[in-house]
Amino acid sequence: MTLSSTKILLVISGGIAAYKALDLIRRFRERGASVRVVMTRSAQEFVTPLSAGALAGEPAYTDLFDSKTEFDIGHIRLARETDLVVVAPATANLMAKMAGGHADDLASTVLLATDRPILIAPAMNPVMWAHKATRRNVAQLATDGITMVGPNAGEMAESGEAGVGRMAEPLEIVAAAEALLATRDPAARPLAGRKMLITSGPTHEPIDPVRYIANRSSGKQGHAIARAAAAAGAAVTLISGPVTLADPPGVTVVRVESAREMLAAVEAALPVDVAVFAAAVADWRVATAGTHKLKKGQAGTPQLALVENPDILATIARRTSERPRLVVGFAAETENVVANARDKLARKGCDWIVANDVSAASGVMGGDRNTVHVVTAAGVDSWPIQSKEEVAQALVARMAETLEESV
Ligand code: C5P
Repeated sequence: MTLSSTKILLVISGGIAAYKALDLIRRFRERGASVRVVMTRSAQEFVTPLSAGALAGEPAYTDLFDSKTEFDIGHIRLARETDLVVVAPATANLMAKMAGGHADDLASTVLLATDRPILIAPAMNPVMWAHKATRRNVAQLATDGITMVGPNAGEMAESGEAGVGRMAEPLEIVAAAEALLATRDPAARPLAGRKMLITSGPTHEPIDPVRYIANRSSGKQGHAIARAAAAAGAAVTLISGPVTLADPPGVTVVRVESAREMLAAVEAALPVDVAVFAAAVADWRVATAGTHKLKKGQAGTPQLALVENPDILATIARRTSERPRLVVGFAAETENVVANARDKLARKGCDWIVANDVSAASGVMGGDRNTVHVVTAAGVDSWPIQSKEEVAQALVARMAETLEESV
């Protein structure tokens, strides 16, 4: 959904930034949105309902007990006849009222009565923004599913003080409104209602308490898939070996070190609709890891005896109960990429193998781009070189299609 033909209810509360709300009305309308305005009493000390109403193209609403307004439309219709509620500026006071569920004027009543998405653009003095009470309210509003844009750092209009508290600029608020509407568009959330698990990163196999066997996997591709799947609406559990990447937003992250810990975490995350095994799991571990640090010169050069790790992908793909409907493995190959991937599909019992060329020349390991071949029983799709984010989005789109078809 874009802003064109979107109904926006703009709540203006009282702060110097209220003058920017007038520009915001124009920006929304330029993009084809219709805007209805509700103003608090203190907002009217900064801008007049007349100017807000003139820009919106209909009178601004100000009073909960105005008999004409209540008769014509009423606060419940104001709250519901809208696709999106935007609060700009959102003062510390109005945010406190929202967090506490107060409804003692038209603005706070409409905010309590609405079941539509709410975007707030806070604006206040930096000391008020940093106050523990405001911190509590911000956390509460986030828990309540309210989206926030800004505030930005900069100089305050009234005092010349610098710090965080300036309202986001109108165009930033417009962009946040578009992003919020996009995430709620069913077409943009084709994995809504699906559960997904993804393994990512390397594993570390201990040699002794301070040493381990590892590999060069960065986790970038697996984490990108988790991010794309969450953005597509899936409930995602990301089981990650040691990586330096930030947790993708909106994803449950389980951190593990070794292959055996990863298998246990994967089994604990079942049942899921889709399981993606993007981790570079160590094939072997040290048979008996030392409980103390191995010391030089004690018994000559240590000889490490290795034993095979469980194959997590094959274990899950061959389960007879709670097998995910779609099991996707990865193949990091340095030669005969597609032929080896076909062979792996059969050996592991999975539904897809996403094969990539990780020979040193390709720069895939740790890099940002990837060339993949999606190998399934139906054939091979070779995709052009893309960023790992693009590969993730294309894989997620194909997973959603496959789940739709197999219903
Ligand atoms: O056999 P190979 O390591 O090339 O297979 C790669 C695929 O198998 C990847 O999807 C990887 O995550 C998975 N795998 C696994 N457990 C292992 C080894 C590989 O899940 N022990």
